[in-house]
Amino acid sequence: MKQYFINILMVSLVLLTSCKDDSKNTIHSPDQNIQVNVEVNKAGQPIYSVIFNGEKLITNAALGLKINGIDLSSGVQMKKVSISTVKDKWEPVWGQYAEINNYYNQGIISLEKDNLQIDVTFRVYNDGLGFRYTIQGEGEAIVNSEATQFNMASDNKTWWIAPCWENDEYIYQTTLLSEITEELRNQSAPEGHAQYFPCATGFNTPVTMKTPAGNYLSIHEAALVNYPGSSLCLNPENLEINMAAAGKPGEIAKVNLPFSTPWRTITVGKKAGDLIESSLILNLNEPNKLEDVSFIKPMKYVGIWWEMHVKKSTWELEGSKNHGANTANVKRYIDFAAENGFGGVLVEGWNKGWNGWVNFDYTQPYADFDMDELSAYAQSKGIEIIGHHETGGQVENYERQLEDAYQYYQDHGVHAVKTGYVGKIENHYHYDQWMVNHYNHTVKLAAQHQIAVNTHEPIKPSGLSRTYPNLLSGEGMRGQEFNAWSDGTTLNHHTILPFTRNLAGPMDYTPGIFDLQLVNSVNKDYKKLKTDEERKNYPFKHRVKSTLAHQLGLYVVFYSPIQMAADLPENYAGIDALQFIKDVPVDWSDTKVLDAEIGEFCTIARKDKQSDNWFVGGITNQDAREETISFDFLDDDASYECTLYSDDAKADWDLNPTLYNITKKEIKKGDSIQIKLAPGGGFAISLIKK
Ligand code: NOJ
Ligand code: CA
Repeated sequence: MKQYFINILMVSLVLLTSCKDDSKNTIHSPDQNIQVNVEVNKAGQPIYSVIFNGEKLITNAALGLKINGIDLSSGVQMKKVSISTVKDKWEPVWGQYAEINNYYNQGIISLEKDNLQIDVTFRVYNDGLGFRYTIQGEGEAIVNSEATQFNMASDNKTWWIAPCWENDEYIYQTTLLSEITEELRNQSAPEGHAQYFPCATGFNTPVTMKTPAGNYLSIHEAALVNYPGSSLCLNPENLEINMAAAGKPGEIAKVNLPFSTPWRTITVGKKAGDLIESSLILNLNEPNKLEDVSFIKPMKYVGIWWEMHVKKSTWELEGSKNHGANTANVKRYIDFAAENGFGGVLVEGWNKGWNGWVNFDYTQPYADFDMDELSAYAQSKGIEIIGHHETGGQVENYERQLEDAYQYYQDHGVHAVKTGYVGKIENHYHYDQWMVNHYNHTVKLAAQHQIAVNTHEPIKPSGLSRTYPNLLSGEGMRGQEFNAWSDGTTLNHHTILPFTRNLAGPMDYTPGIFDLQLVNSVNKDYKKLKTDEERKNYPFKHRVKSTLAHQLGLYVVFYSPIQMAADLPENYAGIDALQFIKDVPVDWSDTKVLDAEIGEFCTIARKDKQSDNWFVGGITNQDAREETISFDFLDDDASYECTLYSDDAKADWDLNPTLYNITKKEIKKGDSIQIKLAPGGGFAISLIKK
């Protein structure tokens, strides 16, 4: 990665305070719009508050850790404060921008108790803030608990999923903080999950809120390394961090000193779209540590995947009449990818272990899957095979085989793997310290084998893909797969994800389903129906609740450097809307949120990193609406061929999801167009510079 510093301005001012316990310190963002106050109160409790855009966001929120039984959330003394400013820029290997500004004011506050010192480092940017604890000393230490709170100053509108140590594949709830109940929490998750919820009311992060004054904030974390992932518990008197135990109760992490925790992050914005445009979480991560990034390829891919989810074929060979990952079928997908300009073919169900999901073997293909032949065939067509490692939660089994598993793929020219962690992790939680270390270890080891990783049922992304850009994408939300075999997603799900899960990092949602009513798979009788009345009353087993134009819009609205064209090749045959999926890039030099309201609609424009072309995607929830696009972001004195893929006037997500129109027009900067979005609808635009 070309990491460079254009301008480093470091003003370092060190104030040595006397050991007063009422010291107050204020750190502002460079534009002065965010003010963070940190103090140790009369009881010796370190606390902070945040004001943004003139509004109090967080008040009297606790800071501190309990380490080796010493509770540094009370009775501490503030020893030292240092303030500095950093301003520089860096270039990500891939991302939403070609270049990212890193401009913040930093305050480091040293706290002491019983000869133990922790430094709390605050970095305040224009788009939010992060803080973390550094435990000074040497040797091993046990972190017993973390005291961090995010006490909200107002009763905010909140987009949230259940607090959970095991899962994020939940339905979002939209309520005021005061309306969050245990019952609603349970509604967002399948039965049986409640045992992994640390508290009756709370949420996993990123959790996003709108204040009564109309400001936005999202709480999450950055650089999650060697520490458990956090949930938040909403108690009557506070909003407090909560983590899975590392083994014994009363221990969340075992660490070597000195040790820095992940950053606690609060992204802020005056508009909902500001959250999406923020690079706060990436900025708080370490620069790229990989010397060789040549094997990391942002791309669109297809795969042997949806056909198993809609039950046309199976992962397992044993007892199956239609095993998906057979050599001939994989070749069919390779041909389809090559014909349509896609970069890769994901192959799930190729290895032994799927029968009963036990003892997965990552170097033993099924008898009808010829790895040597397929690897040569894919190479001859310029297509990457994307490997797959499902663990079924048996992570120790996976760890034992990791080295061999990656070597096997490397030997066969495979440069990307999708990993999976379905179900309860044996002896651990998905989000405990051991699992966080496992997830991070896979990424580092994969890099040594020139392999990029896309993790499903992952630890939440926390910007580590800046440091290890072979961590290309991940799941960690209710994705498209749910539409194939469950009640699926809600109609506002896609308009919430860009402001919640996707803020944490790239999201492998797998858009692009064209057979939205699944009439070619699970709802075959539907095609025989004659009247609208019959169609209205048809008991769909499962379905995708959006229009086709909405699916196209997702390629721009959802950010990920790998995007799947998830439907079956036969469902794309003869459909001219496929052209947009072929054309849309996955790596961007610029990103602008044109118009958005969380849970309602979202329109984003992005500029291709390899050309001067722009792409726009827009989606709505269940409500029809009209969107005006002003092309102010285009280059001066240039004209663009604009191709608009929009909902037909008769389209809707329910009865007519596949009705769309394609219109072409020449567009210049300053022009505008009006687009009608159907209920559950959307649109996509390509702007090719002439
Ligand atoms: C769950 C993953 O999210 C999905 O993409 C995959 O197909 C199945 N597990 C099987 O590994
Ligand atoms: Ca999943």
